[in-house]
Amino acid sequence: MKNSSYNIYFTFLISMALLACNSVPKTYQIASPNSNNVLTFSLTEKGAPQYSLSHLNKTVIEPSLLGFEFEAIEKMTSGFEVINTEQNIENSTWEQPWGEFKTMTDNHNELIVHLKESKGNERLVDIVFRIFNDGLGFRYVFPEQPNLDKVKISNEITQFTFPFDHDVWWIPVHSENSYYESFYRKTPISKTDTINTPATLETKDGLYVAIHEANLKDFTSMTLLKTKNKQYKSDLVPWADGVKVYAEVPFNTPWRTIIVGDTPGDLVTSTLMLNLNEPSKIEDVSWIEPSKYIGIWWGMHLEKYTWGQGKKHGATTENTKKYIDFAAKNGLDGVLVEGWNVGWDGDWTADGSAFSFTEPYPDFDLEAISNYAAKNNVRLIGHHETAGASINYENQMEDAFALYNKLGVNAVKTGYVNKYLDKKEWHDSQYGVRHYRKVIETAAKHHIMIDNHEPVKGTGLQRTYPNLMTQEGARGQEYNAWAADGGNTPDHTTIMPFTRMLSGPFDFTPGNFNFDYKTPNKTMVQTTLAKQLALYVVIFSPLQMASDLPENYEGKPEFEFIKEVPSIWSETKVLDAKIGKYVTIARKDWNEQNWYLGSITNSDARNLKISLSFLDPDKNYKAEMYADGEGADYKTNPYPVTISEQIVNSKTNLDLNLAAGGGTAMKFTPVEE
Ligand code: NOJ
Repeated sequence: MKNSSYNIYFTFLISMALLACNSVPKTYQIASPNSNNVLTFSLTEKGAPQYSLSHLNKTVIEPSLLGFEFEAIEKMTSGFEVINTEQNIENSTWEQPWGEFKTMTDNHNELIVHLKESKGNERLVDIVFRIFNDGLGFRYVFPEQPNLDKVKISNEITQFTFPFDHDVWWIPVHSENSYYESFYRKTPISKTDTINTPATLETKDGLYVAIHEANLKDFTSMTLLKTKNKQYKSDLVPWADGVKVYAEVPFNTPWRTIIVGDTPGDLVTSTLMLNLNEPSKIEDVSWIEPSKYIGIWWGMHLEKYTWGQGKKHGATTENTKKYIDFAAKNGLDGVLVEGWNVGWDGDWTADGSAFSFTEPYPDFDLEAISNYAAKNNVRLIGHHETAGASINYENQMEDAFALYNKLGVNAVKTGYVNKYLDKKEWHDSQYGVRHYRKVIETAAKHHIMIDNHEPVKGTGLQRTYPNLMTQEGARGQEYNAWAADGGNTPDHTTIMPFTRMLSGPFDFTPGNFNFDYKTPNKTMVQTTLAKQLALYVVIFSPLQMASDLPENYEGKPEFEFIKEVPSIWSETKVLDAKIGKYVTIARKDWNEQNWYLGSITNSDARNLKISLSFLDPDKNYKAEMYADGEGADYKTNPYPVTISEQIVNSKTNLDLNLAAGGGTAMKFTPVEE
């Protein structure tokens, strides 16, 4: 523990004591280690628990109620007394096996409030608050006790009451689709209804606040229901029978999290979600290999290939070998193959029960292909599309992962394209949460990494199971092949880092190089080529795809950047950003001293001045730059890229000229003097 922590702890105890002496009802306070964030807890006159949060004397959350309601038994929302409190200090570091930072600091102050109903059944609940420099996490803990056993939670009443009707970036819950594939919109709170988390607020007093959750385990997802023009309340996703959560004491809820920052970048570099998850349960992580991959994939979305059998079947032995050759030649580690297994013929999206996860189609020689991949030092990336038939998948999962492991496949992309799981349960329900966790645990047992599409939102589980590499859970590049609305708008990826990506790595699949494909909907990638490169730095995914067809990369000098850019980072810095307009991120290579920079804009061309002060001040660097070239414009001329080099150092300031829908990608390599 550092000396400064002692001082803060001392101040913190004093403030607790003073407040306890002077005020009725009693108020309990803790501050973050840097004192900027202050959490206040109290009971109302009716004994209802409530909390509030401030940041540098600005109110972030006004007094907001806490509690739960159950089916058949009395609710636990009021009538409490505080029987005891505990305080703890944490200041430690831990190492990630991969991530956006190598070393993580967990520095927080903790207040545990032990509550008991003062009358009747005298039931118990603890509320645990952890306050960090980047925000607050709190959760409910229901201990073992005589008068509470099995419960059916019908409602969580946790409120988030803001001082004003702030603007919020949000996506709806279930109304457009079941797995978060909506455009984010920005409206005042008052114009929303029920929204997903992460929900990101730009406050009237200049703060950036994100509401989400951490460590979602055997519980259901929290969505946010607007209850007043400046208030949300937790709205739990139900089972098909209407129950929100089945639980039995002792149990605890996930952490409800509130990130607070002074800039949009503070949200991106927040580490609170990972700090609130449990340490890794996987001791030997040597088989977990972040990497880049190509795939028999975009061809299906463009209807060049089919998943099912027939003349255009993409996953043939011959075609897969070509992809393996391309990966081997270009130093890419993995080849994803979709449509290799029985079950795709006909309308596979309607019913996934026909999927076999062990039986290949006759024109896909699984064994020969795996041997060919091994010979070429390339890994096959397996694919398990379930179409939401999760029971069918669970029944085959052990055998399927064991087969892949035997064949040297160490990563599997899973998929759940269906409105429901097993025709009736939401992906983000307790049912779904249990299923996805089972997949990750079973995969870990067989040394398989997971890339999960149509997931339940991420809540930091990758700390505990670092084989959960990446997820979809947003509109990815695939929308640029077939979306009826014409594809992802240029601002989409300037919003993602501050919203969806706060929930963890995103398998967006950047890397489109050909802008001349034709689709019935006139759908198109709405970026310049340089922006596609910049996305490799902006969007974090430890399994990162080069999404285009191999032939579109052949002979392109810009492909060098994709070959070189890492997929994991020892440090991350957001240099400048305006949500929905532009973002510039610098990241340091996990293994080397190199830095990379990605800067992207929405549909507006812009000039950004950036300082390279993040570079080591004692070194000179060779900067290799891929910028929008003369006349580049996402609508009319996405191709021009100017590739240049210059020597820079930490005192250099650069002018970035981003075209409409454009971007810049850079690599900085230390120069040996
Ligand atoms: C949707 C996934 O997001 C996409 O990547 C995949 O190709 C299809 N489902 C088929 O599984």
